[in-house]
Amino acid sequence: MKKLLLGTAAVALMSASATVANAQSVEVLHWWTAGGEAAALDVLRQDLESQGISWQDMPIAGGGGSDAMTVLRARVTGGNPPTAVQMLGFDILDWAAEGALGNLDDIASEQGWDEVVPEALQAFSKYDGHWIAAPVNVHSTNWVWINNDALEAAGGELPESWEDLIALLDNFREQGIIPIGHGGQDWQDATIFDAVVLSMGTDFYQSTMIDLDLDALRSDTMVEVFDRMETLRGYVDDNFSGRDWNIASAMVITGEAGMQFMGDWAKGEFLAAGLVPGEDFQCIRYPGTQGSVTFNADQFAMFNVDAAQVEAQHAMAASILSPEFQVAFNTVKGSAPARTDIDDSAFDACGQKAIADLAEASANGTLLGSMAHGHANPASVKNAMYDVITGHFNGEYTSEEAAEELSLAVESAM
Ligand code: BGC
Repeated sequence: MKKLLLGTAAVALMSASATVANAQSVEVLHWWTAGGEAAALDVLRQDLESQGISWQDMPIAGGGGSDAMTVLRARVTGGNPPTAVQMLGFDILDWAAEGALGNLDDIASEQGWDEVVPEALQAFSKYDGHWIAAPVNVHSTNWVWINNDALEAAGGELPESWEDLIALLDNFREQGIIPIGHGGQDWQDATIFDAVVLSMGTDFYQSTMIDLDLDALRSDTMVEVFDRMETLRGYVDDNFSGRDWNIASAMVITGEAGMQFMGDWAKGEFLAAGLVPGEDFQCIRYPGTQGSVTFNADQFAMFNVDAAQVEAQHAMAASILSPEFQVAFNTVKGSAPARTDIDDSAFDACGQKAIADLAEASANGTLLGSMAHGHANPASVKNAMYDVITGHFNGEYTSEEAAEELSLAVESAM
């Protein structure tokens, strides 16, 4: 009996201290595991730790976040959601529709989020008029990262059109440089696809990737998109299958490869390796997409957690939206701030271009959600597209078959 009482007391004590610990800790699920990503995440961790909030890390590797989303589903189903979860676009709205997310309206109104967060992001940070996620950044996918020495060796001209691009890729090859550093994973293939579709015009991107017009999806223009994907596929090395995106970035960093088509999180890798924009590498928009942007914004979706954890959760949201954090984090991560009122002087040349391009695209109606990164349609449609894009990239379909398959796959996922 005495033993039992002691045991009960110990449990009571433990749960009391767990409550205190919970009140001061956040468990964060994310997929920021590459060097540049981890460095950026550290900015947030340190910010919270300086406020006495401890950090329980829950990293699930895998760009684009599909694996992280699978783990999240299991956690929520098990009745044990993390405090905050890195999330993209439509996934946030899906979780909100399930009633799984908390409410950030109080902090949002204290900090005036309505006035400073771009509307394109608010579309995914709010559900039913309530703030449910804290936007961290704005990334975009239609970028090309080019090694400067490789570029010089290949004539030094930055490509502005498809023809220029092919000429440069051929030139890289003649110099013994792998033309494209790429990792054969579905979301990476889809990231290139975003840019190639956009290069056919913003109307075409809108009708296919966002409005899901089935005729446009199987049109001759889409066949041309797949033809171009096949052409680009001819410039990757034999070992591309399954390679992680940051390993492909490393190929460009060392000059083994000439260029990578990747979102601006790649810049985080270049910076972490000590490279300087302009001097060591170039950042340009994918040829034919100048003036347009396919964006994706990382947000921390805040789950319904115990009352004891809500305070730390709200402190995390407040930190994320502070102007100081927006500069400190995004200069490391490679992204633009999630607020429109941030001075760009602390950003490097690529960061300043990202900020200017976003403002321009937003003003011109050429700012479009990235299909590859969950900002064009819900995951069911995105995954259906991934399958066809990757199947075609690996030679499973001709371009004509792929366009037809894409239309059919989307139709059944809608
Ligand atoms: C995220 C980025 C991340 C990238 C690669 C994207 O979906 O938005 O923040 O760096 O995946 O992991």
